[in-house]
Amino acid sequence: MIGTDLHHASNLLQQGKLVAIPTETVYGLAANAFDAVAVAQIFAVKNRPIFDPLIVHVADFEQIISLVVEMPPFAQHLSEVFMPGPITLLLPKSDRIPDLVTAGSSLVALRMPKHPMAQELLRLLHFPLAAPSANPFGYISPTTAQHVAAQLGDKIPYILDGGLCEVGLESTIVGFEAGQAVIYRKGGIAVEAIEAHIGPVQVKPHSTSNPQAPGMLKSHYAPRIPLVLGRLDELLPQYRHWRVGIIHFQKTFPDVPIECQVALSPTGNFQEAARNLFTGMRYLDSLALDVILAEPLPEQDLGRAINDRLRRAAATDQ
Ligand code: TXA
Ligand code: MG
Repeated sequence: MIGTDLHHASNLLQQGKLVAIPTETVYGLAANAFDAVAVAQIFAVKNRPIFDPLIVHVADFEQIISLVVEMPPFAQHLSEVFMPGPITLLLPKSDRIPDLVTAGSSLVALRMPKHPMAQELLRLLHFPLAAPSANPFGYISPTTAQHVAAQLGDKIPYILDGGLCEVGLESTIVGFEAGQAVIYRKGGIAVEAIEAHIGPVQVKPHSTSNPQAPGMLKSHYAPRIPLVLGRLDELLPQYRHWRVGIIHFQKTFPDVPIECQVALSPTGNFQEAARNLFTGMRYLDSLALDVILAEPLPEQDLGRAINDRLRRAAATDQ
């Protein structure tokens, strides 16, 4: 069921049930992070391997302090600048977080969402929420309640409807190695925005499927039909006998039916492009097409995170 009843959502979560929740990035599939039995259902419903750990969502800074054993100076700085917002910090966890949540790691991924409904729900609860994106493992993340309902609606008791996600890309994941910040997943906060506050940071390239590097599985965010990444003026002639859908930043292509085109931002705005990416991929995936051709955006600002998602959607090593 889809609805906007925060008390119903909070009651279900207190009973150890799952609720899909809106955040400013993508919808999450939430459970009480302190309840390993509730958390186990997340893995089952998503069909997610248990070596892939979950992000823990918190209401405020006090909760963060209560869940970690150490706060490196850069983490403190980044949390003050970007929280609440689309950033996740990897920090040494306290014993209160069950090992299932972190897949046995001594680090916990913590995020303070900015979506007003998520914030209100977290304030109603006396525990943090473990929540991965509310999609079947390997598929595109949901950015509306309807996306969640289409894929998981019959498996969960409630979907809290908070409208279209404003950011539209998952959070940027930042960890700390030898005191230095490292970006493990590009996301809703641009690398440049982080560097503006703490100087140059290392960005880890995503690896192929490797249980030793959680959060970095390569083939991810994939539509059902194949997605090919490249320059559209080169790809379109090669696929002229195929039913193609295209994803591009701004301009339109006269040779492709307009309903098969997704222009992420006709005005060239990276925020708008990010917000439209997953919705656009889902839309094309719902048409009777043979292939989606996608052109990378300029490698700057949120274009870098968008290109990362397009590359993963194009990867075939799942
Ligand atoms: O914006 C977001 O981050 C959304 C919303 C719902 O908050 N969540 C999200 O969760 O994207 P998920 O599970 O789809 O992606 C989280 C990534 C996973 O790839 C996981 O491997 C990584 O974060 N991760 C979580 N906990 C970790 C940990 N303790 N150590 C390393 N990686 C971790
Ligand atoms: Mg996900």
